[in-house]
Amino acid sequence: MLLLGVTPELADLGHDTIAVDRNESMIAHIWPGDTARCRAVKGEWVALPLEPQSVSAAVGDGSLSALTFPSEQGRLLSELARV
Ligand SMILES: C[S@@+](CC[C@H](N)C(=O)[O-])C[C@H]1O[C@@H](n2cnc3c(N)ncnc32)[C@H](O)[C@@H]1O
Repeated sequence: MLLLGVTPELADLGHDTIAVDRNESMIAHIWPGDTARCRAVKGEWVALPLEPQSVSAAVGDGSLSALTFPSEQGRLLSELARV
């Protein structure tokens, strides 16, 4: 599962979660820490550091609201379609 951002409440929602966030200090201070079930990586949602069709679900809390419409939201949705 892909998590858009490092929302602690959603960290262990999936069996195998990868959280993507552009902000290192959010990863350092908000992310609850990597475990066998979840890990966080630094990256941009509009250019996800993930292989095609490598996740089976994506989730985020208010993630789309952090992006411009239609430009960035469109690029994120294309990226979600890809991964
Ligand atoms: C999940 S969003 C929304 C959080 C909150 N629910 C809100 O509505 O304000 C906030 C997080 O997303 C990250 N973020 C925002 N835009 C991003 C982008 N384009 N790529 C990667 N991370 C991004 C920020 O660094 C931040 O940690």
